[in-house]
Amino acid sequence: MQAAFMHGLRGRYKSTAEEHGNGNMAFKALLALLTVTSAVLAAPQDVTAANKVSCGGGRVAGHAQCCKWYDVLDDIQKNLFDGGECGEEVHESLRLTFHDAIGFSLSAQREGKFGGGGADGSIMAFAEIETKFHANNGVDEIIEAQRPFALNHSVSFGDFIQFAGAVGVSNCGGGPRLQFLAGRSNSSKAAPDGTVPEPFDSTDKILARMGDAGFSPSEVVDLLASHSVAAQDHVDASIPGTPFDSTPSTFDAQFFVETLLKGTLFPGNGSNQGEVQSPLHGEFRLQSDFELARDPRTACEWQSFITDHSSMVRKFEAAMAKLAVLGHDPRTLIDCSDVIPQPKGAKSNVAVLPAGKHRADIQASCHQTPFPTLKTAPGPETSIPPVPPS
Ligand code: HEM
Ligand SMILES: *[C@@H]1O[C@H](CO)[C@@H](O)[C@H](O)[C@H]1NC(C)=O
Ligand SMILES: *[C@@H]1O[C@H](CO)[C@@H](O)[C@H](O)[C@H]1NC(C)=O
Ligand SMILES: *[C@@H]1O[C@H](CO)[C@@H](O)[C@H](O)[C@H]1NC(C)=O
Repeated sequence: MQAAFMHGLRGRYKSTAEEHGNGNMAFKALLALLTVTSAVLAAPQDVTAANKVSCGGGRVAGHAQCCKWYDVLDDIQKNLFDGGECGEEVHESLRLTFHDAIGFSLSAQREGKFGGGGADGSIMAFAEIETKFHANNGVDEIIEAQRPFALNHSVSFGDFIQFAGAVGVSNCGGGPRLQFLAGRSNSSKAAPDGTVPEPFDSTDKILARMGDAGFSPSEVVDLLASHSVAAQDHVDASIPGTPFDSTPSTFDAQFFVETLLKGTLFPGNGSNQGEVQSPLHGEFRLQSDFELARDPRTACEWQSFITDHSSMVRKFEAAMAKLAVLGHDPRTLIDCSDVIPQPKGAKSNVAVLPAGKHRADIQASCHQTPFPTLKTAPGPETSIPPVPPS
């Protein structure tokens, strides 16, 4: 059902994207391609084959210790991600990379206190403590789904969580190819409560918390590209699987345009803490996303991605590379990024207005740059079916 629907939706977007095909767009696309190509060539994981070790089956890696991750890859693609989908387990695995890693505090460190060990696997090792924190509502399911894989392959919980998130999001069309460094210690301490932002927190509070982990306001926006492949289960528990944009299996920029549309309805039965009105039937809007989209500190970064999917991906990759090593000295880890699959490319570099929406429905919030002119997806008003549990 979902696959068929997504296919249909992508089909529609594709035809819209093709209408953009004037000379200027084609030139921009070519430029973007060249940029991507040179970035790939320059990436450390793509050194010449001479520096690689063979892992068998035509697979290579930068270091012999990376080979075992190919076994983990095959196992989780088949048995955790339903054969390589960008579905619920992928979304939850990506969320888990954040909830484990953000247990980290520079200010606590300066005061000589323990503010969490960062991307250390503590959320899995001390699940009985950390999953009771309000902001971690729902992560218990993916922790228990992942745990047997980590144990079976004798890899640390911290490594496994970041690996699963990186592999998972590579299954999403237009997705990033995240760096993966291996070698995190398996010993950790439970993070204290209060490190994970809540959707009902003020923007000041969210930016301060993220700043305390080392992220600028722009980098918070960059990380929130993750909400392009995301749904909620627990803010309104009566409508689990309600996504944050119309294309929850595609890592596109629709999230950034749809969060700027005027809110008109609640997809469920009323307002919940951390929820505000959304613009589309079947779409959920977090209060935090609504506010970050409109705050002067973050609105321009937010708007910039609407017409620049490649920038969104590049910046997400950079911010995730920071997130994944919080609490670690990356020089002590081994670069096993070769193991992360190359995602399928994006259908278009530019987002569209959902069918039935107009420029007048946009609450443009970046004062430096005019809101871009976008195509509107053809057809009846967009309405989104829930992501089915798998
Ligand atoms: C900055 C503040 C953030 C807030 C307030 C926030 C809040 C939330 C909330 C409330 C949900 C719904 C959970 C549920 O009801 O099941 C959610 C889902 C999600 N979040 Fe965030 N989030 C933030 C940042 C991030 C970051 C940095 C990432 C990853 C890098 C991330 C990845 C995800 C993903 C992938 C989901 C979907 C999970 C699923 O579909 O099962 N979030 N987020
Ligand atoms: C453990 O991993 C091996 C392959 O590496 C696989 O054949 C086996 O089914 C896995 N066992 C569990 C319990 O996941
Ligand atoms: C990691 O620690 C957990 C306990 O928190 C343990 O059950 C698991 O076997 C350890 N894994 C490795 C690879 O040492
Ligand atoms: C919304 O739905 C939930 C779960 O079905 C129910 O418990 C709650 O009472 C409902 N609230 C309203 C306002 O209808």
